[in-house]
Amino acid sequence: MNLPDLKEARKRTNKLVFEKKVDYQFPEAFRGKKYFLKTYGCQMNMHDSEEIRKNLELLGCKETSVLENSDVVVLNTCAIRENAHDKVFGYLGRCKHLKREKPELLIAIGGCMSQEENVVKEIKEKHPYVDIVFGTHNISMLPHYLIAQLKKKEQDIEVYSMEGDVYENIKYSRDSKISAWVNIMYGCDKFCTYCIVPYTRGKQRSRKLEKIVAEVEELKNNGYKEVTLLGQNVNAYGKDLEYGYDFKDLLESVAKTDIPRIRFVTSHPWDFTDEMICVISKYDNVMPYIHLPLQSGSDTILKKMGRRYTKEEYITLFKKIKEKIPECSITTDIIVGFPNETEEEFLETLEVVNTCQFDSAFTFIYSPREGTPASLIKDSISKEVKEERLQRLNRLINHYSLEKNKALEGKIVPVLILGNNEKDKSKIYGYTDTMKLININGSKELIGQIVPVKIQEAKSFSLDGIMVKESEMV
Ligand code: 5AD
Ligand code: SF4
Repeated sequence: MNLPDLKEARKRTNKLVFEKKVDYQFPEAFRGKKYFLKTYGCQMNMHDSEEIRKNLELLGCKETSVLENSDVVVLNTCAIRENAHDKVFGYLGRCKHLKREKPELLIAIGGCMSQEENVVKEIKEKHPYVDIVFGTHNISMLPHYLIAQLKKKEQDIEVYSMEGDVYENIKYSRDSKISAWVNIMYGCDKFCTYCIVPYTRGKQRSRKLEKIVAEVEELKNNGYKEVTLLGQNVNAYGKDLEYGYDFKDLLESVAKTDIPRIRFVTSHPWDFTDEMICVISKYDNVMPYIHLPLQSGSDTILKKMGRRYTKEEYITLFKKIKEKIPECSITTDIIVGFPNETEEEFLETLEVVNTCQFDSAFTFIYSPREGTPASLIKDSISKEVKEERLQRLNRLINHYSLEKNKALEGKIVPVLILGNNEKDKSKIYGYTDTMKLININGSKELIGQIVPVKIQEAKSFSLDGIMVKESEMV
């Protein structure tokens, strides 16, 4: 049993992180069993689920999309805001019910929530029917924990509070055959005061450049058209290593593999250098799209958040990117209702939105996370005020999203076709180079191809278009 410990998780070490090889030899006990995997949260979690899925398949399990048909349930959880937490505990109710009918069902909880002390305490005290709690640093151990359960029959909590090693040779059962996520680093060293991630994901550990490039080469050779380089703060890539390379070097090396499309998330304005902007503009296969979280437009709030930049510095960076890469779409994250945020401070956020006119944004009401410095601040702003601010912010964001999309009407853009439109089977969907969702009439033979599409109609959250001839593309 390994319980999470926030004090341990806060400790930083300078020790080099060693690579660890994963052992993939398992006994046959789970062959033919069905597993149900549910993922909450960000792309990092979705990518972790691709590893969880592969681990279960290496045990011989087959996936089912029906909870009631499963022998093993794995919930890969998110801790970023309170509502993610509530959703998981709500879903656990269903699992508990199923386990009453099917006592041999195994229930495992992984992901960021498992790294939280209070969550694990709650599971121990109130949810004894959960068999395994595993953390974000030891996904590769899940098969061993499952096998141990066949004999153990008691709750097993295996959460490491210190960050794990950097694993190489991880096997994934990827969601897509066209577009793949590639982890370039784990954890985050920024410690924004509201954020739980540095505690749940540990200190920053970058993978070696040559390993990442080799993974992208292999994906390209297997027919993948797109990679998204993943990290909590990709622009800080390499800072924890002793090799002297950074994100611009990585991006350039990945661009030289000639994989058709490269994306990366998430950027932090603090670590975004001019050289990185140059590399993005220099290579055609680095997509003109940047997700650049603002969080707040007030210097006072940014300081309290520990974001390390001012509103002016953010705007300067934004303008620099637009100047060098005019076609670049820029999206953002904004939090409203940080403790004691005044109306004036909120209006400053709206002002920055008016200045930057983002292509779109993820907007959130601040949610206190236990163990973070911001959660200790006594807050005088009511829930109603925060909700009203969120609505005002969303109205402005949607106004600019529509305006940006409308400006594309009549233009011809390259679109990577990803699949059939779920609602309308006569349509296929894909993403433009600038990361806009687009639906087109077309046959499914086009899935996996990059095709020229003329944008016919723009909406706030998607575009409609038709395919045109290659020669019409400028
Ligand atoms: N409350 C609300 N939003 C948060 N985010 C991170 N932590 C919190 C929190 N405690 C948002 C930030 C981040 C995005 C992934 O989630 O905007 O960029
Ligand atoms: Fe959280 Fe800040 Fe790190 Fe992003 S950069 S994961 S918001 S601590």
